[in-house]
Amino acid sequence: MPEDNIKIITTEDGSHSLYNAKLNETYHSFHGAIQESRHVFVKNGLDYHNRIKKNIDVFEVGFGTGLNALLAAEWAQQNEIYITYDTIEAFPISMEQVSQLNYTALINTDNTSEWFNILHEVPWNELHKVTNFFSFKKLNESILEHPLPIDKYDVIFFDAFAPNKQSEMWEMDVLSKIYQSMKPNGAFVTYCAQGQLKRNLKSLGLVVETLPGPPGKKEMVRGVKKT
Ligand SMILES: C[S@@+](CC[C@H](N)C(=O)[O-])C[C@H]1O[C@@H](n2cnc3c(N)ncnc32)[C@H](O)[C@@H]1O
Repeated sequence: MPEDNIKIITTEDGSHSLYNAKLNETYHSFHGAIQESRHVFVKNGLDYHNRIKKNIDVFEVGFGTGLNALLAAEWAQQNEIYITYDTIEAFPISMEQVSQLNYTALINTDNTSEWFNILHEVPWNELHKVTNFFSFKKLNESILEHPLPIDKYDVIFFDAFAPNKQSEMWEMDVLSKIYQSMKPNGAFVTYCAQGQLKRNLKSLGLVVETLPGPPGKKEMVRGVKKT
């Protein structure tokens, strides 16, 4: 995806997002990028799965701006729970775009600027210890082709572009691979609450809940893998 397709925008909570003109799609809710990430992925993914004094393995589909990874690092620090975070991104944004994003000015935790830079600057496909509570690996691959480990992840941040923009990301091939990568009790969370997605997740064996969405969005979905 050429860079001139991608423009920076300010969402309603003051935080930046990106707009992909080719897809006519934003990277986050225009009602608030930070607000959405905190609600969908942190509150309904990490908080839901909070097991004191245990490690949590997270897999994110679509690293994008790095906002979800930054909020997960903040959460790990605040809760003193160790996260190993793997993320996949087929079309990385440029460092120039990264440098314009205002997340670290809006997230009031020490060291977030340093962490955010590390997330973007570390080489792809290698594991890095970013903080005492956060190890991170980003894969520059497509989820459509990349095999995933079996029974590894506690929490899946499924943050692909919407099904009507990038339908292949939501098809059974991808969802089934993700399902197999989840541990029993693992939680799959996404901002999308489409009926077909819920039916697909149920058919894989997840217990699917429709939860209230972030401000401005009615619903979101969490699917939990049965033990
Ligand atoms: C909704 S945005 C993700 C937002 C991101 N989580 C963030 O916090 O900025 C979707 C992301 O999926 C990426 N993507 C698109 N096709 C992909 C593919 N086949 N494999 C992996 N990532 C892909 C896009 O480039 C984009 O960064």
